[in-house]
Amino acid sequence: MSSFSEANRKAFNDLSEAYNSKPWQRKLSSQVADALQDRKNWIGVQWATTDDKRDVRLLDYACGTGAITKALGPYVTTIQGIDISEKMVEEYNKAALSSGLQHDQANAVVGDLFAEKIPEHLTGPRFQNFDIAVIGLGFHHFEDPALAVNRLVERLKPNGVIVIVDFLPFDQERKREAELRAQNPRADFPEMSHTIKHNGFERDGMEKLFTDAGLEDFGWNVLDEQAVMELPKGTVHRTIFVAKGKPTDALGTFKTVG
Ligand SMILES: C[S@@+](CC[C@H](N)C(=O)[O-])C[C@H]1O[C@@H](n2cnc3c(N)ncnc32)[C@H](O)[C@@H]1O
Repeated sequence: MSSFSEANRKAFNDLSEAYNSKPWQRKLSSQVADALQDRKNWIGVQWATTDDKRDVRLLDYACGTGAITKALGPYVTTIQGIDISEKMVEEYNKAALSSGLQHDQANAVVGDLFAEKIPEHLTGPRFQNFDIAVIGLGFHHFEDPALAVNRLVERLKPNGVIVIVDFLPFDQERKREAELRAQNPRADFPEMSHTIKHNGFERDGMEKLFTDAGLEDFGWNVLDEQAVMELPKGTVHRTIFVAKGKPTDALGTFKTVG
């Protein structure tokens, strides 16, 4: 595991128990959930319905405590969570069990799909052939976004879709943080600076990442309501986007309107 991934593992282990404890955290999770549910048709998956028996498979990558699983759980049949933090995985599995889901319906495992060598335990059939792979607020924590998109696309069915929910650039916030540190070198901002490689993403950059990974049918939506985060350094406002794409060879079979 790279030192950057290791920093993420440790930081999210420390955060896991308190991850959804504050009102602003719960509000952020519900903004993300609403954003996905409101865009179900736009996302373009053939979602599960009560009267068909298809297995509709969701990969909740960087699943944390399971916000994406909760949002999309009612519309799929099998969910696999993966997260680098073992404590997040523990919280995810506790929440899944207590909401009545069986292990084979939804469970999370510890893992890093972006490691130089993909771990053996992430290679079985349970980790392939997803109808949809979603990364909820994890993308700015990844060291190499291009590698991340490629590795996730490999896990999709031919007509699968990848969805990334993340933030527009928040460089100003990071500049302000650097200024505060310069003014007071002993100030402690325990939040997550050292776990963030990219201060958010623009539409063009995301589209290029998707296109370079062989995805088409790029879709991009920006949420009207900003996220308000009460971090130790102060209150910050970030803008959330939803991006989606499909492997090129899927378009003949299931074209959506972007
Ligand atoms: C901000 S949290 C988002 C959690 C959840 N998806 C949500 O929407 O609440 C980011 C998550 O990314 C995970 N993470 C960071 N780097 C990762 C990697 N390389 N592979 C898997 N998970 C990773 C962290 O452990 C953390 O749980």
